[in-house]
Amino acid sequence: MTEEKNPFYSDKVMEHFTNPRNVGEIEDADAVGTVGNPKCGDIMQLFLKIDGDTIKDIKFKTFGCGAAIATSSMMTELVKGKTIEEAVKISNKSVAEALDGLPPAKMHCSVLAEEALQSALQDYADKNPDKKINLPEIKHKSTDHDHN
Ligand code: FES
Repeated sequence: MTEEKNPFYSDKVMEHFTNPRNVGEIEDADAVGTVGNPKCGDIMQLFLKIDGDTIKDIKFKTFGCGAAIATSSMMTELVKGKTIEEAVKISNKSVAEALDGLPPAKMHCSVLAEEALQSALQDYADKNPDKKINLPEIKHKSTDHDHN
């Protein structure tokens, strides 16, 4: 099968879109983040398994466009094995850079992955007040959190 080069998306975006990593759910997750993009209705759910302060496992479900799926996939690759402190610094820009860029019109899609990560880390901090996890204030870029 010959792969045609997509004129809008980098090879890495296409590769993560067609073969996304870490898709699914973690049943006994230590933290869950759910965010929705009110502009397009896309939704992402993120599950973390945390041991000590290290993110041992991460899985996601994204009901969204190709750019959202590719950025979700790349974000999970960047986060896996990192400490909470390192993970909280991962932004949608760093995910987009790791994918060799996104078309400007699709940058907002990468915010879904960043906010799902922040939401899951906040969930972990809320569930473990004794750990005194210091998270920077969560930025709301273009999506609303859905706590239902
Ligand atoms: Fe909704 Fe991309 S169009 S996240």
